Amino acid sequence: MRTIDVNLAERSYRVLVGRGLLERIDTVGEFAEAVCGRQVLAVSDKKVYELYGKALEGGAKKAMAEFLGWSVFEAGEEHKTVETLTRVWDDLVKSGMDRNGVIVALGGGVVGDMAGFAAATYLRGVDFIQIPTTLLAMVDSSVGGKTGVDHPLGKNLIGAFHQPKAVLADLDLLKTLPRREVMGGLAEVIKAAILADEWLFALLEARGPELVQDVELLEEAVARAISIKAEIVGLDEKEGGPRALLNLGHTFGHAVETASGYGRYIHGEAVAMGLIFSAKLADAVGVAEKKSVERIIDLINAWGYPNRPTDIPGRKIKEAILHDKKTKSGLPRWVLPLEIGRARWGCRVNEDAVDALINEGLKN
Ligand SMILES: NC(=O)c1ccc[n+]([C@@H]2O[C@H](COP(=O)([O-])OP(=O)(O)OC[C@H]3O[C@@H](n4cnc5c(N)ncnc54)[C@H](O)[C@@H]3O)[C@@H](O)[C@H]2O)c1
Ligand SMILES: [Zn+2]
Repeated sequence: MRTIDVNLAERSYRVLVGRGLLERIDTVGEFAEAVCGRQVLAVSDKKVYELYGKALEGGAKKAMAEFLGWSVFEAGEEHKTVETLTRVWDDLVKSGMDRNGVIVALGGGVVGDMAGFAAATYLRGVDFIQIPTTLLAMVDSSVGGKTGVDHPLGKNLIGAFHQPKAVLADLDLLKTLPRREVMGGLAEVIKAAILADEWLFALLEARGPELVQDVELLEEAVARAISIKAEIVGLDEKEGGPRALLNLGHTFGHAVETASGYGRYIHGEAVAMGLIFSAKLADAVGVAEKKSVERIIDLINAWGYPNRPTDIPGRKIKEAILHDKKTKSGLPRWVLPLEIGRARWGCRVNEDAVDALINEGLKN
């Protein structure tokens, strides 16, 4: 098992990465100490609840928590809404949880974001624990304290920063995760490697996506990706500066998600396209080392991520880039890889270079 500390003064917490954590959760100190003698309400989606709900409930009871019950909703991004959140709030109010209670999020990023926001807002804020069950949630969404729901006009527009008290990433839970979701999560691991870990990138090149079958390597890769996020979040909790690095591949990726209609690509697939785009853009404006650009493009192509949509007009993608909530004063700021393991955030890039790449990509 690995532990990674997220250092945020009085909001610091620990991320555990290992196997078998859920089945012996009553003996896992970070969980047991946080819930012992306290009221607990668990939040999940239907799929995850059916797979792992019993184990969590049993473990919480064994850890001597006062288990109040569950708030469970339909799985899927389309349910990450204010309406669903209202039902979670209802369940909390009806459960009678007091300010000393703890919310436990058991699920992927949708569950974690929503449970976290419920925790940030119920009684002006209660503690919560993340038990991520997707690879994406383990390496990305469960760490860093961004919580929230979508608005009909855009993703994640309603939310709050609220750090969990602990994150428990049990790699055994990934055995039931569909391959497409595993690949989506791996795109965020590739992102982390490009940002700050040459060694991890070389490991991904050498082993390919089948690396997830090797538990030791999977643990290493997940722990490294989390460490990179933890370090960046520790420097800049609320994204005033370097936290923007974590958006590598996301300006273009989000635009593809928006322009193609949510649901066509999962987030990680759009990010994979965005990573290629950012590498090509960095090359086009001459800030990136050539060999690194080639390695990024080759790795992502070799892993079989979907190609960029050819049936969406470039104009729609451009529009979506300009409307991204992170686009300051109408001009996108790009995160560009300089070489494997090093990137630059906040880059203003010549619009012609962006347009040329958008149009080039949509032709082939
Ligand atoms: N807060 C952040 O910093 C942050 C960062 C990145 C992404 N996100 C958010 O995360 C969300 C995406 O998260 P996600 O990719 O985990 O999607 P998700 O939560 O929708 O999960 C994907 C699917 O996998 C199922 N599932 C989850 N765990 C499973 C398991 N162990 N076995 C079988 N099926 C399982 C779910 O029921 C769902 O159908 C988006 O809403 C995104 O905005 C947040
Ligand atoms: Zn992402």
